Amino acid sequence: MRNKKPWSGRFLEPTNRLAERFNASISFDKRLYRWDILGSKAHAMALWKAGILTEREYKRITRALSIIEREIEKGRFTFTPDMEDIHMAIERRLIEKIGPLGGKLHTGRSRNDQIALDMRLYLKDEIRDILSLLHELKRAIVKVAKENMDCIMPGYTHMQRAQPVLLSHHMLAYYEMLKRDRARFEACLRRVDSMPLGSGALAGSPYNLDRYLVAEILGFSTVTENSLDGVSDRDFIVEFISCASILMMHLSRLCEELIIWSSQEFSFIELSDAFSTGSSIMPQKKNPDIPELVRGKTARVYGNLITLLTLMKALPLAYNKDMQEDKPPLFDTVDTVKDVLRVLTPMLMDMRINREAMADAVKKGFLTATDVADYLVRKGMPFRDAHRKVGAIVAHCIRKNITLEDLTLRDWRRFSTLFEEDILRAVSPEHSISTKTIYGGTALRRVKERIKRVEKEMKI
Ligand code: ARG
Repeated sequence: MRNKKPWSGRFLEPTNRLAERFNASISFDKRLYRWDILGSKAHAMALWKAGILTEREYKRITRALSIIEREIEKGRFTFTPDMEDIHMAIERRLIEKIGPLGGKLHTGRSRNDQIALDMRLYLKDEIRDILSLLHELKRAIVKVAKENMDCIMPGYTHMQRAQPVLLSHHMLAYYEMLKRDRARFEACLRRVDSMPLGSGALAGSPYNLDRYLVAEILGFSTVTENSLDGVSDRDFIVEFISCASILMMHLSRLCEELIIWSSQEFSFIELSDAFSTGSSIMPQKKNPDIPELVRGKTARVYGNLITLLTLMKALPLAYNKDMQEDKPPLFDTVDTVKDVLRVLTPMLMDMRINREAMADAVKKGFLTATDVADYLVRKGMPFRDAHRKVGAIVAHCIRKNITLEDLTLRDWRRFSTLFEEDILRAVSPEHSISTKTIYGGTALRRVKERIKRVEKEMKI
């Protein structure tokens, strides 16, 4: 019968249809069914151990819950707004199946601690998935670095050519970012990993429920300390979306570079046909839609973070219905991040590197000017004087429309007698790179070393 709600005892009138629809979260929280059932089974065990259910009752309940799970999996379960949320949908079905015994399951539990549990169980699984997808992306990045170990490209500051760097070094910069992302997700996971059931509606439960047993069954390493906090804490969601936002920021930076590099003006890379799209009007076009969309989807994730922060701001303790609104942005963040990681990995593996275009770009723009200044410093000139002198040399080259490598030893010596034969080699991009042997620098030896340690870190 419609409107026979589990909570309708004190109500004289049925719920208004619009209010019912407005109140319902079933349309989106149905995806929590697996974790909700898992939590209910563990709760049933605690009820049995506390002497509230007999062993037989416990078994009947858990068996019926497994059947309901299968019904939902097979799509044989129709969700309707009058079910309100996933917790009541499952409970109602349980009572349909096993009668009044089903009504014993909610003893000592509230939907407030139940949803807190479901969200934590769900998020723990999703973070683990994200960590393994992140691992795959890092592998792809390391692969690009390794396969193009000695490929030289211009390094940029202000989007102006600055100094030569190795493409492998550039790629490994993204590895470092993603490594920090991993650590952030792992730290977040530790805080999600706390079991809230037993908090009840807000004050705790009067039954002798073994919270540590429930935690152990469900694979939590600890239990929450305070029942009010247990039902009203959503920090773990805010924190997760923060981690996701920082990850997306990194990926959008990578994608921005890929978009620029695949432009005709740069032509540093070419994305494979499989990961590019065409134009409906311009037959010649090959567009980098995938990286552009990653850049775009970063906005949604940031939006979700702001939604959660704003949602939780100034909420009094303990549970408030506002918190039901945490789900769509959380689910959207999880789906977006997983999709992005899944598509970026094969796209990177498939991308073609145009070493010649990168090498050509290094030749123009006086990228080794700083190396010339350093050359003079090594011959005893104060850096500021050397900087000014090399500025004058660059100005000379610009006037003559030549590069530093075009200068003869005589040309060099007209600027300073400190220049000797070896300056001719010192201005080559290869030489410039070979001098950056400082820890963390772009010298090939350092990059090779780093890749070795990275492979060890990642157990590749
Ligand atoms: N659907 C609710 C949510 O997502 C579950 C908890 C509802 N609790 C309550 N007392 N109405 O937050």
